[in-house]
Amino acid sequence: LIMKAVIPAAGFGTRFLPLTKAQPKEMLPVVNKPTIQWVVEEAVDAGITDIAIITGEHKQAIENHFRPIEKLEKILEMTGKKTELKEVREINELANLEFIIQKEQKGLGHAILCAEDFVGSDSFAILLGDTICTGNPNCTKGLVDLFYEKNANIFSVERIKFEETKRYGVVSGTKVEEDIMLVKDLVEKPEPETAPSLLGIQGRYVFTPDIFTHLKSTKSGAVGEIQLTDAMNSLSKVQKLYSWTFKGKRYDIGTMRDWFQSHLELSINSEYSSVLK
Ligand code: G1P
Repeated sequence: LIMKAVIPAAGFGTRFLPLTKAQPKEMLPVVNKPTIQWVVEEAVDAGITDIAIITGEHKQAIENHFRPIEKLEKILEMTGKKTELKEVREINELANLEFIIQKEQKGLGHAILCAEDFVGSDSFAILLGDTICTGNPNCTKGLVDLFYEKNANIFSVERIKFEETKRYGVVSGTKVEEDIMLVKDLVEKPEPETAPSLLGIQGRYVFTPDIFTHLKSTKSGAVGEIQLTDAMNSLSKVQKLYSWTFKGKRYDIGTMRDWFQSHLELSINSEYSSVLK
């Protein structure tokens, strides 16, 4: 069973400066909660109970958000603010959370490597901490179910624009079912002209622990970082690796457009819809 997830959230958020100088990108609010809480809730809805958040020394706010703050709870209790008390307690109890500090920012692949001991010999999910996915079933749940069905590594993709390839890992392979492809080739941030297709990696994955063997032998790649995509390419040569075209919506909170859009679209479906009227 897939009970573990790793949420990398250690980057500097350079694209969003100065907004993200002191405020971690993953803590940017979307409707009524920080982005990373949406991500943790997606994992929990997919049946995951144990989550490692990979974070940086400069990102203490993430850990603070998920741990109990006794003084606050006491005040809420004393002043009879029951709804608020319930809400903050629920955050503390969402899952068993572990925080792992990535000491150097050496890329997504390196961040995942920091969770090797946490993962051990279990298969596990990865959810990028700055990306919100909606849909029913949610993206991680969909991947977990397909992982059981295929008994193989799988990740989600979406159709991207020609001019966007340099922002994504791009993949190609052989179609085996509607929306499912056996992956043959993966390239991180290719030029549009050399991209193997227009299917971009979204930031949701389920792997066997063998991905660590491949991560360990991965050298720095695109933008001088250890790339998860390169380790996946190596894994695909020895184990089955599938892509699944996710039909729900994905918001990359690392871009202004998606961040603003997520506010509008997710608030319409929430109890906060009245504020928009
Ligand atoms: C990362 C991954 C990339 C993926 C993207 C999705 O890149 O390396 O393969 O397509 O997330 O957002 P980053 O956005 O961290 O540059």
